[in-house]
Amino acid sequence: MSTFQAPKGTYDLIPPSSATYLAVREAIAAPLRNSGYGYIETPGFENVELFARGVGESTDIVTKEMYAFETKGGDQLALRPEGTASTLRAALEANLHKGGNLPVKLWYSGSYYRYERPQKGRYRHFSQVGAEAIGVEDPALDAELIILANQSYRSLGLSDFRILLNSLGDKECRPVYRAALQDFLRGLELDEETRRRIEINPLRVLDDKRESVQEQLIGAPMLRDYLCEACKTYHEQVRELLTAAGVAFEDDPKLVRGLDYYTRTTFEFVHDGLGSQSAVGGGGRYDGLSEMIGGPALPSVGWALGVDRTVLALEAEGITLDLPAATSVYAVPLGEEARRVLFGKVTELRLAGVATDFAYGGKGLKNAMKSANRSGARLALVAGERDLAEGLVQLKDLQSGEQTAVALDAVVDEVRRALA
Ligand code: HAM
Repeated sequence: MSTFQAPKGTYDLIPPSSATYLAVREAIAAPLRNSGYGYIETPGFENVELFARGVGESTDIVTKEMYAFETKGGDQLALRPEGTASTLRAALEANLHKGGNLPVKLWYSGSYYRYERPQKGRYRHFSQVGAEAIGVEDPALDAELIILANQSYRSLGLSDFRILLNSLGDKECRPVYRAALQDFLRGLELDEETRRRIEINPLRVLDDKRESVQEQLIGAPMLRDYLCEACKTYHEQVRELLTAAGVAFEDDPKLVRGLDYYTRTTFEFVHDGLGSQSAVGGGGRYDGLSEMIGGPALPSVGWALGVDRTVLALEAEGITLDLPAATSVYAVPLGEEARRVLFGKVTELRLAGVATDFAYGGKGLKNAMKSANRSGARLALVAGERDLAEGLVQLKDLQSGEQTAVALDAVVDEVRRALA
């Protein structure tokens, strides 16, 4: 029988590179934790209606990419393609918005699923770390989120990314623009599918990557010219706050996101070393989403950064994260008595917070020392019958090869001193 493989469009995270993923998640989360965002975890699947209404019936995510299924009990569910609708659903369900303490600030980290055509940087199972600030309309909140995402990327050492910024207007001005855009688009030479898109989601046509389409879009009405005064002022304030914070951004009047819930501020972080899947993160304001899923009016803003693509961005910039060694000390026992005694020392060292591992399986000295070197440990703790008879173990520096005899009951202190 042939062995199994990970399903198409997925991959496994395995050591040692998996450590980089954990560190990236951590680095994205750290500024959020430090800015009043509380951790939330929601189920990996939800009622399919939540995404259909939340993300939008006309989006690719809902029409083509959703893992939707019926359970044995007859429930219509879908694996979550994104985190915003679920997070808002959970906040409403728990009445977090009624605590009189708005905005409700939440962050999350987890797996998401989209049935996309797989390629480098585009997977069917991927990871995001996201943040949502629910229930307040304040340009400083939009700015805060962009500043925090920027801070995360900077803390990882990334510099080859750009922040694209746009405003999609609100329920006053966007319908007027939408109608004007539809008028323009209906006069173009477009295929059937794109013509259908004009009627359901005309803004997405602006996002068409084909050159034949882009050429015809020259002269299309721009949303920028249709923004109402309130949206214009709001957007200007977001821009000013970012500038004052020293966060560089590019105005991108053509930026349209792949989810329908956005209003006003939208943004994308793109990395220039990633080829076609260059969006490492994105987000924006979604003032109408709560009402779309049956809640009260709760203007909100958020983003999600893709962990997989952030790791690829690190690779593209040649950045290796400075991660703590998985193992600092590796214990090598020679003989049964040494196994018993050193195993005890390993437990002691671990309790003292020293990352320690042990040569399991009764390996001979040569093999055990090979494992010690492979583990990346700085020190080996070696003991045979003769050392033990004298109440000693050998502490070997694996870089210099230098070896010192240490009294058994001084091992923890000596190891600490050697690692300091
Ligand atoms: P999104 O732009 O669809 O937004 O996804 C955010 C990020 O997730 C992308 O920029 C990308 O890095 C990553 N991502 C998306 N799809 C894939 C994939 N197939 N493979 C690898 N990475 C992927 C959202 O999901 C919104 N919920 C963000 C948001 C939060 N808006 C407001 N609050």
